[in-house]
Amino acid sequence: MSDFKETPRLKVTDLKKSFSNKVILHNVNFQLSKGSSLVIIGGSGSGKSVLIKCISGLYALDQGQIEVDGKILTSRRNGADAMQRRNFGFMFQNAALFDSMNLIENVAFGAKHALRMTHKAARNLALEKLSLVGISRRMGNLYPSDISTGLRKVIALARTLTIDPQVVLFDEPTTGLDPLMSKKIDKLILQCIRSQSLTAVTITHDMSSAMRLGDRVAMLYNGTLIWSGKPDNLFKTDNELVRQFTNGYVDGPISFKD
Ligand SMILES: Nc1ncnc2c1ncn2[C@@H]1O[C@H](COP(=O)(O)OP(=O)(O)OP(=O)(O)O)[C@@H](O)[C@H]1O
Ligand SMILES: [Mg+2]
Repeated sequence: MSDFKETPRLKVTDLKKSFSNKVILHNVNFQLSKGSSLVIIGGSGSGKSVLIKCISGLYALDQGQIEVDGKILTSRRNGADAMQRRNFGFMFQNAALFDSMNLIENVAFGAKHALRMTHKAARNLALEKLSLVGISRRMGNLYPSDISTGLRKVIALARTLTIDPQVVLFDEPTTGLDPLMSKKIDKLILQCIRSQSLTAVTITHDMSSAMRLGDRVAMLYNGTLIWSGKPDNLFKTDNELVRQFTNGYVDGPISFKD
């Protein structure tokens, strides 16, 4: 992931993150050009969610830096900064909608607070983003409890797009969905990536999703990115760790200690 002629949209350099002296991530380096899509795979607890929370500024780094368009956004002790977070759209692992707000209000929330828009402007923007993902104004009046898990992910996607982020971070956008719904959500994400030239980092456990969504795929293991390549190479690589993970073999070099 090097040989960049232009300034990368996102550059992660030497990222390190620990909790209570337990190193979760170390020596994480990658860069992405505008409009490119990286998928990160890795076992449960390998640090995938922590990585994108560090990138977005939700967690402060112990070491390293995050750059967007050549501008350093974060370094040690400089974590959650409101301005920094406006560069990133974050779709959380479980959609994380507000139960007490209807779907339009859920999508308008980010615009109202992050962009300090008026109620009316935020609502109009929400309707625009909802229509982008195929949700009508009438449906927008429903509440999260009225709709399926798959549709909740669609609403979360619309909400992620309201702030027109430079980089979108998707944490397991299809986990818990049936294969057909997963395909639909992937298609929608891909449409948004292509039509808006979004730069995306997507975490998934699902190899079909990884193949569909990534221009490149990288694997996180023992706190660092141990492999990256084109999606086609996921099943062709000689890397034993990747082969074991992608094929779901129980026996192999991957340690299941923690
Ligand atoms: N706020 C926190 N404080 C302390 N430890 C944390 C915190 N957040 C995550 N961890 C630890 O960091 C490690 C990586 O967690 P993370 O949530 O990134 O895993 P993951 O790869 O996203 O797993 P999954 O696939 O199950 O979602 C785990 O051991 C977890 O317990
Ligand atoms: Mg996670």
